[in-house]
Parts: sequence; structure tokens; C-alpha cells
Amino acid sequence: MRIDIITVLPELLESPLSHSILKRAQTKGILEVNVVNLRTFSPFKSKQVDDYQYGGGAGMVMMCEPLSLCIEQLKSERTYDEVIYMTPDGNTLNQKMSNSLSLKNNLMIICGHYKGIDERIRQLYVTQEISIGDYVLSGGELGAAVLVDTVGRLIPGVLSDETSALTDSFQDNLLAPPVFTRPEEFKGLKVPEILLSGHDKNIADWRYNKALERTKTRRPDLLEE
Ligand code: ADE
Repeated sequence: MRIDIITVLPELLESPLSHSILKRAQTKGILEVNVVNLRTFSPFKSKQVDDYQYGGGAGMVMMCEPLSLCIEQLKSERTYDEVIYMTPDGNTLNQKMSNSLSLKNNLMIICGHYKGIDERIRQLYVTQEISIGDYVLSGGELGAAVLVDTVGRLIPGVLSDETSALTDSFQDNLLAPPVFTRPEEFKGLKVPEILLSGHDKNIADWRYNKALERTKTRRPDLLEE
């Protein structure tokens, strides 16, 4: 999969994309992430990318011209399955959306800043608008990093133990069951006996029941879906 991210702050994306699973995915050649500095597409001498909003009011708006030039340049190089705009008024990201996006070949992600991007860019180019939660970030970059992380780890071949993504929280609309590692006893708290039994079927049943219990108490809404 190839992901192009359009941003005015490329530095903000460097670290989240270059560690752990995302790093491995890129080293393996399964994922290619290309960060594009929007300012380099500004046709203005000042390299301006934002301007005051029509109608007045505080906050700048990201202008049409740099975004349009940048998006059209990228589109001339490949066909995108989705052009995604990170915005608090988008659809809230969930595991189902991540699963679906992980099956695509080419994604473009636009990070907004200030008051956001000119509405006409949304109308002309954007195919999906995604929010990472009901709160406002200073820009779309952290949201884009979250999106690339959740999607990137689901691309087949990225996780070394392929089944581990299948038992994550939210996969099958269930939260994950509790997990334990050594030692068997810590500050008087023991690892549940069944996990030491070596009985795979009983362990799987226990985990399922714990996941169900946890989901019922913490996120009953997931079970209604
Ligand atoms: N940009 C600003 N706030 C955001 C949010 N909650 N999700 C995605 N992008 C954003």
C-alpha cells in the first residue's frame, strides 16, 4: 500500500511513522508512506498556504491553489482509492473503517490546519472525511498518524503473528480480554489458573467470556451493533 500525506508540518509526522510496526512495514516494502510538504506547491512568492476567511472571523483557512496543485500532481502519478481529509466533522474512525482501508492500494490523506481547508477542495477532491474523536486537534497530522498506524498494522504481512490483529480489541466488536505474563504471582496477585493449564480450548473459552464480560460492563454499545 502507498499512502501520500499532504501537510504543512512534515516534521510532525516523522517520528510516528519511523518506529515499531510502521517502520517494519516500510522496511519490508509492504507499506510506503510519502509525506508531501504543501508549502512547496504554493504558487505564491511568499509560499503562503492560508488566508483570512470570507465573512470575517478569527482563524485562517487553507487556500485552494496550493492544495489543488498538490492533489492534482499526486493524482497524475497514480490512481487513489480514497482521498481522505482529516477533520473533526468527519466520520469517527473505528476498527471497521481501518479494516476496510487496509485493503486499499493507494490512499491520499490531507491534513488541515488553522480553521481547516477551503470547502471547495472538499467538494472537488475529497472522497472520505475522517475524525479520530470528538475533540479538536491543532491540525490533522496527529489524526493522520493514528490513521496510518491503525491501517498499516492491518495490511497482510505486516504483523509477524498474523493472528494477533484478529484478537485485538474491537475486532468482532469485543474488547480484548485481560492478559498476563511472568511472574505467576505478583504482589499477592496470581495469574488465573486456567491460563497455566495448557488446555487450548478452555483457554480460548475463558478469553472469550472475559472479553464478553468486559465489553458488557465497559462498552455495551458495541454489543448492540
Ligand atoms: N483535525 C482537528 N481535529 C481533528 C480530529 N478530531 N480528527 C481528525 N482530524 C482533526
